[in-house]
Amino acid sequence: MGKVFVFDHPLIQHKLTYIRQKDTGTKEFRELVDEIATLMAFEVTRDLPLTEIEIETPICKTKAKVLTGKKLGVVPILRAGMGMVDGVLKLIPNARVGHIGLYRDPETLKPVEYYVKLPTDIEERDFIVVDPMLATGGSAVEAIHALKKRGAKHIIFMCLIAAPEGVKALEEAHPDVDIYIAALDEKLNEKGYIVPGLGDAGDRLFGTK
Ligand code: URA
Repeated sequence: MGKVFVFDHPLIQHKLTYIRQKDTGTKEFRELVDEIATLMAFEVTRDLPLTEIEIETPICKTKAKVLTGKKLGVVPILRAGMGMVDGVLKLIPNARVGHIGLYRDPETLKPVEYYVKLPTDIEERDFIVVDPMLATGGSAVEAIHALKKRGAKHIIFMCLIAAPEGVKALEEAHPDVDIYIAALDEKLNEKGYIVPGLGDAGDRLFGTK
């Protein structure tokens, strides 16, 4: 089973409190989501491999560590996932960005792919799938399935707020995927919103209704 990591960093918790509040406007909401994504990316990249190179400081020659240059990909689930991409890219600017768009089939209510554009060297990359809300888990499960069927071997999932129902569904469908969450909330309501949550993340990010 993959691990589920819930962030307890005070900066993340503080910023989350502000995006949860209904009176937080679009500009501030967007900025805070971006900042939280950066803080989460710091932790998510903790195990990136390092190698030693020779360098010369003004004082002497020495050996120092640099990233090996492991190839990474960030994949937002459209559209709310877009709000987390720039925050992640601030720390890993060379990552490629793929996109996955899903719609809900009106009859089966299951998510169906309508747009998938990924880097070409999928098998060599580690992927971070981002979506602010893990509600039922349907979109995350399908997006990760879309990546795997195209050859992705190592994937992690990163979201701001999750419902226990979504975590369970994602763990069951993709036990090899580690899940990084800023807050694990109480439940889903009858309309599929996370409680207490923050409402519709896409609408709040893009100022739509
Ligand atoms: N998607 C959202 O944007 N918010 C929720 O609460 C659940 C799914």
